[in-house]
Amino acid sequence: MDTLCSFAYNMLCIILHKQSLKLYVLGFFFFFFSFLQETVLKNGTQAFETWRDPPSPIYMQFYFFNLTNPKEVLAGETPFVEEKGPYTYREYRSKEDVRFLDNDTKVSSVTPKSYVFVPEMSVGDPALDLIRTVNIPVVTVMEMSKNSVFKSAIKVLITTTGETLFMTHTVNELLWGYRDTLLSLIHPFVKTIDEYFGLFYKMNGTDDGDYVILSGEQKYQDLARIVEWNGNKSLHWWTTDMCNMINGTDAASFHPLITKDESIPFFSSDLCRSLYATFDSNIDVKGISAFRFVPPPDVFANATLNPANDGFCVPAGNCLGSGVLNVSVCKQAGAPIIMSSPHFYQADPKYKDAISGMNPNKENHQTFLDINPVS
Ligand SMILES: *[C@@H]1O[C@H](CO)[C@@H](O)[C@H](O)[C@H]1NC(C)=O
Ligand SMILES: *[C@@H]1O[C@H](CO)[C@@H](O)[C@H](O)[C@H]1NC(C)=O
Ligand SMILES: *[C@@H]1O[C@H](CO)[C@@H](O)[C@H](O)[C@H]1NC(C)=O
Ligand SMILES: *[C@@H]1O[C@H](CO)[C@@H](O)[C@H](O)[C@H]1NC(C)=O
Ligand SMILES: *[C@@H]1O[C@H](CO)[C@@H](O)[C@H](O)[C@H]1NC(C)=O
Ligand SMILES: *[C@@H]1O[C@H](CO)[C@@H](O)[C@H](O)[C@H]1NC(C)=O
Ligand SMILES: *[C@@H]1O[C@H](CO)[C@@H](O)[C@H](O)[C@H]1NC(C)=O
Repeated sequence: MDTLCSFAYNMLCIILHKQSLKLYVLGFFFFFFSFLQETVLKNGTQAFETWRDPPSPIYMQFYFFNLTNPKEVLAGETPFVEEKGPYTYREYRSKEDVRFLDNDTKVSSVTPKSYVFVPEMSVGDPALDLIRTVNIPVVTVMEMSKNSVFKSAIKVLITTTGETLFMTHTVNELLWGYRDTLLSLIHPFVKTIDEYFGLFYKMNGTDDGDYVILSGEQKYQDLARIVEWNGNKSLHWWTTDMCNMINGTDAASFHPLITKDESIPFFSSDLCRSLYATFDSNIDVKGISAFRFVPPPDVFANATLNPANDGFCVPAGNCLGSGVLNVSVCKQAGAPIIMSSPHFYQADPKYKDAISGMNPNKENHQTFLDINPVS
């Protein structure tokens, strides 16, 4: 079972890739002298309105890996997967509970996100399309009972429910939740375990925590820089202070007058960490000139190549290869989840080599931010 579990971790990585979030930060035209005044988060400024209610549409696209050879995998063969997607949702994210603090130098808010399916930008119907993937509830329960006295009872329970290491569900069920047989049996005994499972279960309409950010009133370079998240100035699940730092903005807003030599820090609550991006190229987004910033390989390098990443090895000293991040420590119920870029892009080749159907490439799998440098 152990090898199956560790294999299952790899499978978890694959299904959880979100396609790189493409952010198009559209420019505005201002008269130069009023420009910096307009780029402060305060009532009435353009920057404030754009920040509170982004005018350009935001899309979230989900891709799944459909496992085609479950029997062979259980017999020890290489898994073969087919990418299915995109399933596209229009994301609505307007700021709520907006409050100005400390004489307007700070702003606190939450950002509930809701998702509305866009059929014309999707490959199929999420209510009908079936995906065969790792049985995440089973793997989670096995992981949780690993060191407990209930270990053998859990094994019996899994066998009697007929659950196996793989499951087949519709896209809707996988994303937004379904009542799981095994979890429903455990729920009466362990109330913290929900009967429902879904990768985005209860995420429609919910926010990712309270943010306090700087308004840019004192220094335009500080516009939207996070100072507190959920009442804390730093994270606590990583093992070094540097890795626990909450740096930069939430990557939806950036300060004006960006230069090519800047390293742009940002915090991702999905990834449970801060990262940064550096200048890559000049590009044109729908007629608006932009700088493309991408996270350099250092950001995802293993702790041998980049000792600054040592703090992301959890439990301490348990370092994984480049390009993957164990986020179990910050996810609900300690579900065994490991994140990577899509198709293990820029990760240690051993991960992509373990699964047939991986095709990492820069065009499709690189994370990038296209930022109009002036506005
Ligand atoms: C608050 O900000 C205003 C305008 O920037 C300034 O005139 C005032 O002195 C500030 N008050 C305090 C208590 O810092
Ligand atoms: C999310 O909630 C919105 C508003 O309540 C609703 O219109 C939308 O269909 C929901 N999306 C999903 C995927 O359930
Ligand atoms: C995924 O694979 C299963 C089993 O082969 C198949 O029934 C299903 O149609 C596939 N899903 C998609 C979206 O192609
Ligand atoms: C804030 O950090 C402390 C540890 O420094 C932690 O115990 C607490 O849970 C954190 N609060 C939140 C809301 O994350
Ligand atoms: C956060 O920023 C500090 C200072 O620039 C840096 O030393 C640290 O490595 C950064 N942390 C992360 C996780 O990027
Ligand atoms: C991931 O982190 C969790 C929690 O610290 C730990 O129990 C688990 O063994 C780690 N997984 C791997 C594959 O290192
Ligand atoms: C880190 O990456 C380098 C280069 O890919 C590799 O030689 C080394 O074995 C890796 N170390 C670990 C602990 O994975």
